[in-house]
Amino acid sequence: MTLPETIDATAALLHGQGYRPDRALATVTFLALRLGRPLLLEGEPGTGKTEVAKALAAGLGRRLIRLQCYEGLDAAQAVCDWNFPAQMIAIRTAEATGAGDAARLQQDLFGPDFLIERPLLQALRPHPEGPPVLLIDELDRTDAPFEAFLLEALSDFQVTVPELGTIRAAAPPIVILTSNRTREVHEALKRRCLYHWVGYPDAARELEILSARAPEAARALSQEVVAFVQRLRTEDLFKTPGVAETIDWAKCLLALDVIALTPEVISDTLGALLKYQDDIRRIEGAGAKRLLEEIRSPKTPA
Ligand SMILES: Nc1ncnc2c1ncn2[C@@H]1O[C@H](COP(=O)(O)OP(=O)(O)OP(=O)(O)O)[C@@H](O)[C@H]1O
Ligand SMILES: [Mg+2]
Repeated sequence: MTLPETIDATAALLHGQGYRPDRALATVTFLALRLGRPLLLEGEPGTGKTEVAKALAAGLGRRLIRLQCYEGLDAAQAVCDWNFPAQMIAIRTAEATGAGDAARLQQDLFGPDFLIERPLLQALRPHPEGPPVLLIDELDRTDAPFEAFLLEALSDFQVTVPELGTIRAAAPPIVILTSNRTREVHEALKRRCLYHWVGYPDAARELEILSARAPEAARALSQEVVAFVQRLRTEDLFKTPGVAETIDWAKCLLALDVIALTPEVISDTLGALLKYQDDIRRIEGAGAKRLLEEIRSPKTPA
């Protein structure tokens, strides 16, 4: 499928995959596609950053190539590696049979048969479906040297492998980077990208998201779930629940055939929303009752 021509078409494309972007996200996504620039999405956990890449790939009918970042990630894991055991076998076989000359063997050993292509290299290769969506997920988990390496790769959409030379994408991939901002991404890399902060949605959009992701939930229950989570986010918590937790919680309530929230039901299912014992202890029981009363009879503070 060709790239969307307008912001509305971009929003519609994401919509078609069950993703509910706000206007700002649809705009920056459209611009990233139109200008061929990488898009850096930063935000709280569980707010739909990774899902943008998945929805784009599915909506455009492109492959999704994912590079999951972690501490110590290096070029061998990100670009390509050599199949060392297979190379050894080839060497031993050549020795045993006396076949071929040494120079030829060396050339073969660093040829396509022994190459293991990792996500960055895969993303540069031409493909009948068109350039893929390259998701570089949780970039903040890597370190500065890898970011510097990435900077080069994303500037020209090319990588250099000593044995192979420089490999350049004929058609650049669509690149989405995500970060939970456990540390700042280097400015030079940020400059290459368009940037968007993915915040918690407002109640109306969270209800839309919930209706898309848990359509089996009755409207009244979804509204209560959203109101409760929105209220919960204003509490002083160690870890505030994201949209992912809202969806999980609604599914738990559905599995328990709950039709309306009660303090007991909330306390029993808090583990879907809160993942720290201190937070759970703070909210369960009286806290849940208080928050529930507040969302059912919203009062303006005196
Ligand atoms: N705007 C949205 N529309 C539809 N679904 C959404 C939206 N935002 C979040 N979700 C849903 O929330 C869940 C979490 O999304 P996702 O994994 O993309 O979050 P994330 O921001 O990448 O989280 P993390 O930082 O923990 O990796 C997914 O199931 C996704 O479908
Ligand atoms: Mg993610």
